[in-house]
Amino acid sequence: MAALITAPRLMSIGGGALTELPALLGRFAVSRPLIVTDPFIAKSGILDRAIGMLDKAGIAWAVFSDTVPDPTTDVIETGTARLREGDYDSLIAIGGGSPIDTAKGMSVLYANGGRISDYKVPNDIPKSGPPIIAIPTTAGTGSEVTRFTVITDTATDEKMLIAGLACCPTAAIVDYELTLTMPLRLTADTGIDSLTHAIEAYVSRRANPYADGMAKSAMGLIARNIRTACAEPTNHAAREAMMLGATSAGMAFSNSSVALVHGMSRPIGAFFHVPHGLSNAMLLPEITAFSAPAALDRYADCARAMGIAEEGEGSQAAVARLLDELRGLNEQLKVPTPRDYGIPKDRYEELLPIMASQALASGSPANNPREPSADEIIELYRRVYG
Ligand SMILES: NC(=O)c1ccc[n+]([C@@H]2O[C@H](COP(=O)([O-])OP(=O)(O)OC[C@H]3O[C@@H](n4cnc5c(N)ncnc54)[C@H](O)[C@@H]3O)[C@@H](O)[C@H]2O)c1
Ligand SMILES: [Fe+2]
Repeated sequence: MAALITAPRLMSIGGGALTELPALLGRFAVSRPLIVTDPFIAKSGILDRAIGMLDKAGIAWAVFSDTVPDPTTDVIETGTARLREGDYDSLIAIGGGSPIDTAKGMSVLYANGGRISDYKVPNDIPKSGPPIIAIPTTAGTGSEVTRFTVITDTATDEKMLIAGLACCPTAAIVDYELTLTMPLRLTADTGIDSLTHAIEAYVSRRANPYADGMAKSAMGLIARNIRTACAEPTNHAAREAMMLGATSAGMAFSNSSVALVHGMSRPIGAFFHVPHGLSNAMLLPEITAFSAPAALDRYADCARAMGIAEEGEGSQAAVARLLDELRGLNEQLKVPTPRDYGIPKDRYEELLPIMASQALASGSPANNPREPSADEIIELYRRVYG
């Protein structure tokens, strides 16, 4: 079966790529951008650099910086109102996955009206909105190249997955130098998020040869560099590899899918405000152990791509190495269990049925090589609690 591949029309990738911003807007003949970012980036010097370049090129801009981590329906509505007030022809999203996903949500709501929940999977997004130029500062969600946005419904706490061509940025500027300021915890969490994207894209039932190549390349880059990027934040080679790995992993899962880890991770994030990468990391080893028997050779390929198993080594042995590696990585990067994170056991237990039903409703578990029942998901949540 043919795979349908989506990607931004243009990408500028490499150290210093941010300086391409004015020229890139010119290529798409847009000149009145609304910049979407978060309060940290607004103060960090990164936003000032970007607007300095726009000023020099005579491009009029405005900033919406009231985004929040894990964007909510409220923030999307406020941002869309802002977009409607002005005469903007494009969006520039600068930041981690949260500002980029916010810009996507704003573009969708601007073009289609209604409520953002009208467009959650499996619903279609009829029209594309203003073009988005995405500039990631974490490595990362890969949102700069994906056809997804994840928005939390303020009324229900559900983390909704919204998917479609309308969510794919028109262009991406992938400049690893913007990640040099990431602290250890953020580097570790966002790095494990990217590794999870690559592994899930590769073992997904929607895997295809194009996404496979991107996924294996991403796994190799991330597994070989995540420890160095955490230990030496200004190591340029490690930061560059992590950024390239994150974007490649984004290309992989956007054109394959994520699977059970992401399906189960969103409810933990939504109910207990655990950062996205961290909730993935809490789940990744156990979910891999649960899923591997259904796709032993594919998981063994992951171990080989990560450089932790020999090419000639049998699949069973390679998968055992993969599980050791994922557990070891969590230990070294000090990933807490939900219990250690401070999630109260009684509240966790009480929410398990709704968490399982939201996980299943997102559609991601159906792409897993081993498709779990609601009871199995509850059991897995219990197993990772700690
Ligand atoms: N659309 C997609 O395809 C996709 C994929 C995966 C995750 N996501 C979503 O992305 C969001 C998570 O994004 P994220 O993990 O990039 O984090 P984030 O955007 O929420 O940012 C987390 C924190 O890191 C700070 N930060 C960002 N860049 C920094 C830098 N260079 N130096 C120091 N601090 C910096 C931010 O200001 C913020 O305080 C979640 O909502 C998740 O659901 C989306
Ligand atoms: Fe993710």
